[in-house]
Amino acid sequence: MRSRAQIKSHPIHPMLVVMPIGLLIGSWIFDLIGKATNNELLWAASYYCAIAGIIAGFCAAIPGLIDWFSVVPPKSSAKNRGLLHGGLNVLVLAAFIVIAIHRSSAIEEPRGFELGLMTIAVVVLGISGWLGGTLAYRNQIGVDHRYANAGQFKERELDSWERPACNQSELSEGQMMLVRVGSERVVVGRCPEGMVAFSDHCTHKGGPLSDGALVGCTVQCPWHGSQFDVHTGRVVAGPAKSKIDVCEVEVRSGEVYVTPKTRNKPKAA
Ligand code: FES
Repeated sequence: MRSRAQIKSHPIHPMLVVMPIGLLIGSWIFDLIGKATNNELLWAASYYCAIAGIIAGFCAAIPGLIDWFSVVPPKSSAKNRGLLHGGLNVLVLAAFIVIAIHRSSAIEEPRGFELGLMTIAVVVLGISGWLGGTLAYRNQIGVDHRYANAGQFKERELDSWERPACNQSELSEGQMMLVRVGSERVVVGRCPEGMVAFSDHCTHKGGPLSDGALVGCTVQCPWHGSQFDVHTGRVVAGPAKSKIDVCEVEVRSGEVYVTPKTRNKPKAA
């Protein structure tokens, strides 16, 4: 899904993370070589790299947090993965802060405790980077996909479901739009039989269906390929086992009104 913290569709978080990764690993390498060669210039280089890496880490965290709150689908495996990724990064920064405070001057020889803690922090940084890669390349967080002949991914925020989600002329066959009201996320799409609306939440691991493909009247999840009938919500192909929620759609004077399942009135007994 397209990043909210971006410059012309280029997500800022991946641009910035190279700075703390390079600086903190550089600090560790300088200390290792400095210790082996008894070179106080390398100890100083390590100290200043650590300080710069800590500052860069906090800067990189800001766009990451914005995307975690606003882009990563709620109640999904990516939400948990993002939380773990961020938590590990906080631990890494905390470790380097402790090391920087522990060292009274830049040219002080690193002690065994500092080198040990740095080594653990670098390993944790690698695990966190692995998770970040999964978020970007498998969960497609920050990917700005386009529909054929349709320009950008369509997304809209409304204050209430009483308002039209879109005009039907905005969507061609096979195109979808993510519509949000508060934390509710509904996909409005056009299939050969007309306008449809359904929950954005894939019942497998919470993938965003609005980022998938609508072919005929079947939507395919971008994460593991589950397919659902957009009229009934039934699973056409797994790994998902449960149907998705579908919404009532009404078109009045070309405007598309959606009633999410959570707002459906109970049927009379
Ligand atoms: S999240 Fe796995 S198929 Fe949708």
